Amino acid sequence: MQEFDPKILNEKPIPPPAEFQRRARLRSLDEYRKLYDRAKIDPEGFWGEQAKMLDWFAPPKKILEWNVPHAKWFLGGKLNVSHNCLDRHLAKSANKIALYWEAEDGKHLKFTYAQLHERVCKFANALLGLGVKDGDSVAVYMPMIPELPIALLACARIGAIHSVIFGGFSATALSDRISDAKSKLLITADGGYRRGHVVPLKETADKAAEACPSIEKIVVVKRTGENVAWKNGRDLWWHDLEAKASSNCPAPSFDAEHPLYILYTSGTTGKPKGVLHTSAGYLLGAMYTTQLVFDLRDDDIYWCTADIGWVTGHSYLVYGPLANCATCVMYEGAPDFPKKDRFWEIIERYKVSIFYSSATAVRAFMAWGNDWIAKHDLSSLRLLGTVGEPINPAAWKWYFEVIGGKRCPIVDTWWQTETGAMMISPLPGATPTKPGSATLPLPGVVARVATLKGETVKPGETGYLIIEKPWPSMLRTIFGDDERFKRDYWSRIPGVYFTGDAAQCDADGYIWVLGRVDDVIKVAGHRLSSMEIESALVSHPAVAEAAVVARPDEIKGEAIVCFVTLRSGHNHSAALRVALIEHVAVTIGSIARPAEVRFADLLPKTRSGKIMRRLLREVAEKGGVSGDTTTLEDMAVIQKLAAAAIDED
Ligand code: PRX
Repeated sequence: MQEFDPKILNEKPIPPPAEFQRRARLRSLDEYRKLYDRAKIDPEGFWGEQAKMLDWFAPPKKILEWNVPHAKWFLGGKLNVSHNCLDRHLAKSANKIALYWEAEDGKHLKFTYAQLHERVCKFANALLGLGVKDGDSVAVYMPMIPELPIALLACARIGAIHSVIFGGFSATALSDRISDAKSKLLITADGGYRRGHVVPLKETADKAAEACPSIEKIVVVKRTGENVAWKNGRDLWWHDLEAKASSNCPAPSFDAEHPLYILYTSGTTGKPKGVLHTSAGYLLGAMYTTQLVFDLRDDDIYWCTADIGWVTGHSYLVYGPLANCATCVMYEGAPDFPKKDRFWEIIERYKVSIFYSSATAVRAFMAWGNDWIAKHDLSSLRLLGTVGEPINPAAWKWYFEVIGGKRCPIVDTWWQTETGAMMISPLPGATPTKPGSATLPLPGVVARVATLKGETVKPGETGYLIIEKPWPSMLRTIFGDDERFKRDYWSRIPGVYFTGDAAQCDADGYIWVLGRVDDVIKVAGHRLSSMEIESALVSHPAVAEAAVVARPDEIKGEAIVCFVTLRSGHNHSAALRVALIEHVAVTIGSIARPAEVRFADLLPKTRSGKIMRRLLREVAEKGGVSGDTTTLEDMAVIQKLAAAAIDED
């Protein structure tokens, strides 16, 4: 967690830009408060009312059954998520564009709702033909191509549980996640493109599948046309399956609580957690927040830049916008390829009106300079969003002025994989914003900053961000580990959802999220566990012990710093440092590539043997250990820290 600068609590509120406000659904803080209070006084009445935005095959009989910490929402209700995202729009909007897709290499496609529906139906039939049944888990390891949302919606259509694994993860990370979810089918591609290079997804998938006996078939999309290894009987081309499949696939009816997907995220231990989301509550959360927070209109061109490998892509590139019948832009590739104005070019080309990206991306755009932006007409933009980490006021202001031309409100949306949908965010026509604050909880969300005893902290004091009441899109459990679900989220303050974030609340009730209080590291908005990186390091033959901490990074928010003790017989060297960095990148994926590896002959520990991360964080942050590698200096400092640590034990 980064140190909080108390000065930012004094950021002056910026009222919603007048032109935006004039057209907005909610136009004042009073209107927000009315809705907020209505939801707070009668949450079940409120959510029951909101749930009417879904298309039900049978309406719910009971809104909520809450046996802490297990919630069941909309009991007795029956629906189909894929029907809600596609079929129900066909009567009025069959020819509306659902998806504009563009790739790094210039390839582009567009799909109307009718076309997307047809592709989803065909692939759903293909899945049925492969013996995939409702409740089966399907692993998805794909580049950002249209077949990715098609695969998700096809799974949802037939009640299969998708488990998307980000395309940047390694074979080990992939196989761990496939094994945990016991997926029987894996969907991938021959490759994807990133900065002009081919990412060999099939090769990685093959390696992972070797370690996963549950995998019966691998479906492969032909994307790059590169040669790939092929196992007859196991591997199948997507296009062959789709060519043979009928486009008639009626959407069956599922219970509101039917599992929709598992998405792995990092926690405090080395083992990733499979966050489980179910159908109606999740879809409602995604749909409701897309409407409210983006103030979405029928003619909007909406672009969420997140990869579907993460929750933001699930909720705000697939389920939320499609349930709302929005026109989405999807891009496969890097923002700086071939040049640093690729995003601005895309905004200009498609006349994007809503742009939702990460705080890290905003900081990178700012560092790249305004000349890239000046070349493009961004006047189509009317709203900007950010997510993933705290955004510093300077980056916020730059985003507001340079990208948004001071006419676009910024929604700084706080939420998590576990919450399924946005929880704290301004409403763009109603909430005055303060740069750096996600502002106020959304109607239906009861959030507070408290001590571990549950007492609300005073303005200016740091506490834990907690959520007090269940909400429809909340995770239902950790797949296969309900004990961990109870322990991690519901036991720190009994009966209350513990977010794992530190925060402050100012005198106006605005929430300022400061960062994680656990050993989760956020690098460029990607959530990583220090324990997972440590176990990757100790799996290297030269490493005896490792401790991993984060230090602040101007662009990426945080960067990974590893302290490593070597086994005897191994010597510190620049080559070994590079090898260890590479080893982590190969074991987990390039998103976990450490910024630094420092050798230490011993790590500072308490008498009971616990590594003193706080001290290491200090060393990492302040750069206390200077010089190139090097061991002796490092060791001297670490030893000093160790001595201090013993005193603290
Ligand atoms: O620390 C918070 C940070 O991201 C964490 C959740 O990460 P993940 O599950 O990967 O989901 C990211 C996308 C929703 C949170 O616990 N975070 C997310 N949004 C914000 C944020 N921190 C500050 N401000 C935000 N807007």
